Amino acid sequence: MITLNYKNADANIIGKANGLDIESAFLSYSSQISDIISNIYSRKDEAGQWLKWMNLGYDSELYSSIKSFANSVKGKFENILVLGIGGSALGGIAVTEALLKPYWNLLSSEKRNGYPRIFFLDNIDPDTINGMLDMLDLRKTLVNVITKSGSTAETMSQFMILKDRLEKAVGSDYKSHIVATTDKKSGILRQISDSENYTTFVVPDDVGGRFSVFSAVGLLPFALLSIDIDSIAQGIRDMDKSLQSKDIHSNIAAQNALIHYLMDKEYGKNLSVMMPYSSRLKFVSDWYVQLWAESLGKNKDRNGNDVNVGPTPIKALGVTDQHSQIQLYNEGPNDKVITFIRVKNFDTTLEIPHSFSDTGIGYLGGKTMNSLLNAEADSTRVALSDYSRPTITITLDKVDAYNVAQLLYMLEVQTAIAGELYNINAFNQPGVEQAKNYTYALMGRAGYEESAKSLQAKMAAV
Ligand code: PA5
Repeated sequence: MITLNYKNADANIIGKANGLDIESAFLSYSSQISDIISNIYSRKDEAGQWLKWMNLGYDSELYSSIKSFANSVKGKFENILVLGIGGSALGGIAVTEALLKPYWNLLSSEKRNGYPRIFFLDNIDPDTINGMLDMLDLRKTLVNVITKSGSTAETMSQFMILKDRLEKAVGSDYKSHIVATTDKKSGILRQISDSENYTTFVVPDDVGGRFSVFSAVGLLPFALLSIDIDSIAQGIRDMDKSLQSKDIHSNIAAQNALIHYLMDKEYGKNLSVMMPYSSRLKFVSDWYVQLWAESLGKNKDRNGNDVNVGPTPIKALGVTDQHSQIQLYNEGPNDKVITFIRVKNFDTTLEIPHSFSDTGIGYLGGKTMNSLLNAEADSTRVALSDYSRPTITITLDKVDAYNVAQLLYMLEVQTAIAGELYNINAFNQPGVEQAKNYTYALMGRAGYEESAKSLQAKMAAV
């Protein structure tokens, strides 16, 4: 199981001015946390609660259908191209970067055991899209278009381009190069998929984009790439079992949610830095940034009061950002909680040769990159403590499907608990919808004419 160490956020280590008395906090919030956990788990099957992502690790039918599709197309495609944005892309990017061999797309087919390369097209920069189209052989590409709403302009515009290019590249067979992952009944992509007869997978009801990584949104590309989705399910289930504990002392998601909440409320530390000491986990930070930001950044609480809450998530990478951000984190405003993700066992032990032994770098000879990385993580954590900066450390035994699934699922539950502590709805995103609607209006979508007029007036005024 992954572990959480919060000692460096405690007043005993970093002083009362910046650290919490964590044991007292756990005691005074124990009954509220217990209620929150009972409440979340009791609502998870209810329609409209947006908690059905908590059931995904148990959905054996989903796993079978995905594995069976993956088997049916095995060996047929050299490339998978995922079209999607936000929650429809970030989980896939985070997990594939973590679990595939580094530099996967650059490896020979033999080194990839015949499994395809993977590309995500989440942005809509025309140069990048054009570059992707120039580079990919569409005759050997499977396009997985993912959008829960079925209408997101970024994803659907990409899809329109790709469908057109596929048709030109492979003729009438283009449909066998498309898999759509979308709502089971509603949305434009659902209509198109049904009328065009595409293979489809479902983004289940009550599973929002940023909580969808363990639905077909993530699992389908993972299975196509030979990532062990059964171990993913096992990791989710084992973590879920432990997070059902109503006792905060044994529930790491509740602990981390409460510490972040109190650091924000009581100490004004409302910046949350996610800093894995593993390049393979680099994109977990991007995923976490969206999860934390879209879920917790809200202007109204559940009673309709104006609150404008939400800690700001920041991504960092150890050790790279020691040479970029740590100066600020040690000496700048003491307004952050920094979370390290540590890995106990890397797949590789990489020794540094005994070269230049009579120079100032001779001490490195015979050590390993592994010990250097861990020494740097320890040094950074202790230095931050010396400067009275709170840090949390999450430790994974290794970067594998089981542990990565535990990590992501734990962070999802942590987010749901934090939402309850802030007393906000962690599962909507009205602030995103507003700009999406403005885009529809600007681009001339039917039904948005009034919005377009008022928008034009606002734009002319500035
Ligand atoms: O988390 C969310 O709900 C959002 O980030 C969505 O995933 C994102 O806006 C894409 O939406 P859709 O899947 O409907 O295209």
